[in-house]
Amino acid sequence: MTACSKEKPVTNIVKSDFGVLADGSKADLYTLTNANGMEVKVTNYGGAITSWTAPDKDGKYANIALGYETVEDYVAGSPYFGAIIGRYGNRIAGGKFTLGDSTYQLPLNDGPNSLHGGEKGFDKVLWTATPADGEEPQLKLSYLAKDGEQGYPGNLQVTVTYTLQKDNSLKIDYEATTDKETVVNLTNHTYFNLAGGGAITDHVLTLDADRFLPVSETLIPTGERRAVAGTVFDFTRATRIGDGIGAGDEQIRFGKGYDHCWVFTDSSTTLKPVGRVSDPKSGREMEVLTTEPAIQFYSGNFMTGEYKGKGGRSYPYRTGFCLETQHYPDSPNQPSFPSTLLKPGETYTSTTVYRFL
Ligand code: GLA
Repeated sequence: MTACSKEKPVTNIVKSDFGVLADGSKADLYTLTNANGMEVKVTNYGGAITSWTAPDKDGKYANIALGYETVEDYVAGSPYFGAIIGRYGNRIAGGKFTLGDSTYQLPLNDGPNSLHGGEKGFDKVLWTATPADGEEPQLKLSYLAKDGEQGYPGNLQVTVTYTLQKDNSLKIDYEATTDKETVVNLTNHTYFNLAGGGAITDHVLTLDADRFLPVSETLIPTGERRAVAGTVFDFTRATRIGDGIGAGDEQIRFGKGYDHCWVFTDSSTTLKPVGRVSDPKSGREMEVLTTEPAIQFYSGNFMTGEYKGKGGRSYPYRTGFCLETQHYPDSPNQPSFPSTLLKPGETYTSTTVYRFL
C-alpha cells in the first residue's frame, strides 16, 4: 500500500534577479535544468538565452552559448546574443515594403537597410514570462508588439516557448497573430561555440541545403538561388568552417565571411533535421531541426572584441557562430520568395530544435 505520498516537488526551473533597466523595470533570469544536468538560462529581456551547458565526449558539461551575466551588459551592447529576433529576422531592403495600398518605412539600423526588427526589436523588450516546472521545464514568453511599433503594421501578439527536453534538446516554439496584414519572420540569435571558447573555425558543419542566396554588398539577397555545388558554400557534406571562410569569392567578401541564407533541399514545413555541427576536439555535436525553409549561417564576422561583460567575459572576432532558422531575408520585397505575410485570423507558427548528441 502506498502511504499518503506527497508529490515530490520538482524544481527544474528557478527564477532569479537579472538586473534593472533604465526605466526601473526589473529583468529576471530563469534557469532550466533536466535530469542529465543540462542547464539553460533565459532572461525575459529580449527572451535571450544567456548560457547553455552541453556535455563533451567524456560527459563534462560546459557553457556553449555566448552571453552576459546581467541585463545592464545586454543594454550596454550585445550583438543580439541569444535573443529572440523579430518582428522580421534579417534585412529588409531600404527598410521599406508595401502591403496593399500602404507602404511602410522601418528604421534603417544597418546602413541603408532595416535589420532584425529595427532599432528596438524583440531582442530589446521585456517579455512576460510564464514558467512551467516538470521533467521538461518550459518558459513561455509573451509580447504584444503594437500597431506601428518600429514601423510595422498590426498589433502582433507573439509567444515564444522554450522547452528543455529529456534528450538534451531545446525546443523553441514561436506563435503570432495579428489584427492587420503584416510580415513576420522570427528566429533565435544564439552564438554557439561548442569548444566553450576560442575561434569557431575548427567546427565542422553540415547543412542539408543545395542552394544559398547570393547577396549584394549591403547583404540583401539578389533574388538568385544559387547551387552550392562546387563553391565554398557547399556544406552538404561535413566541412570545416575555416576551410572556405577566407576564400577570395565575392560573396565571402560581401559577408566578410559566412553571413548568408541557405535554402534547405527539403522544402517541407514539417519538423525535419536540417544540419549538424560538431567540435572535433571536445566531441560536442549538435543537430538542428526546423519547420522553416532556410537558415542564416553567420560566422561572427562583425565581432570585434568590444563586446565585454562585467563578469570579464569578452568575445573577440569569430568566437561564436549563429544558425538562425528562418524565412529568407527581404521576402516582403521579393515575390518569388516564400511568403512572410500574416493576415488577421491566421496563426504564424514555427518550431526549431537544437539537440545535443
Ligand atoms: C545577422 C546578420 C549579420 C549580423 C548579425 C548580428 O546574422 O545577418 O549580418 O548583423 O546578425 O551582428
